[in-house]
Amino acid sequence: MQVFVVDSYEEQCAIGADLIEAVVRSQPDCCLGLATGSSPVGIYQELARRFREEGLDFSQVSTVNLDEYVGLAPDHEQSYRYFMDSNLFDHINIDKAHTYVAKGLGDVEKNLEEFRAVLRDSHVALQLLGVGPDGHIAFNEPADELHASAHMEYIDESTIDANARFFASRDEVPRTALTMGIGEIMRAKKLVTIISGSNKAEAARKLLVEDVITPRCPVTLMKAHPDSTVIITKALAEQIGYKG
Ligand code: GLP
Repeated sequence: MQVFVVDSYEEQCAIGADLIEAVVRSQPDCCLGLATGSSPVGIYQELARRFREEGLDFSQVSTVNLDEYVGLAPDHEQSYRYFMDSNLFDHINIDKAHTYVAKGLGDVEKNLEEFRAVLRDSHVALQLLGVGPDGHIAFNEPADELHASAHMEYIDESTIDANARFFASRDEVPRTALTMGIGEIMRAKKLVTIISGSNKAEAARKLLVEDVITPRCPVTLMKAHPDSTVIITKALAEQIGYKG
């Protein structure tokens, strides 16, 4: 794993944007695997700036997202489709017809079939990832066994707590989500994980300090990928005793 330890969230995002830009410039029709949550927001702002000011071209890029809440319409402010449109797609020259976020409404089995088919046909050049405080990636929650393929996941109580800040009340947080499975995430050519915030310390320690790979902390699976990059802040590195 390649690990970047930097001073600030802004620097984390600049590195994340650099890695994405390198892929887009070398392969203009690449497929990017994208993530939601607060961690990648700064990366998306930086990519939008590079589009506006430096002509970074997304016209041939396609994307597929990690996950979507079950039960939320695409125009619901907390749906991940809405998140992607408002945080990135509306600010760059991507063709939205080439962006895929799993469907939150409608028949779950049909939506999963479609999601799996899209993933089978996509060759993700770079998958961006955040991590939950419990070590989850996408919505793959800690468990004795993890799913290889896209599936519906029951969201852990601790994740409902963590994500409640985005909703008017905890009760409004959906209890289930469609998510890429670990096998699909691992098929991406390159993984880029951005970790910020002291509430991620336990997950970051398991990933970067302890020599373990465990489904009880799904982000540790990222160690098994041949081209995996992690971007953390110095504050977090100090907190977990990561020496590099
Ligand atoms: C959600 C998403 C994850 C994301 C996590 C952490 O649960 N499904 O993909 O990594 O939130 O989000 P944040 O970056 O806001 O801490």
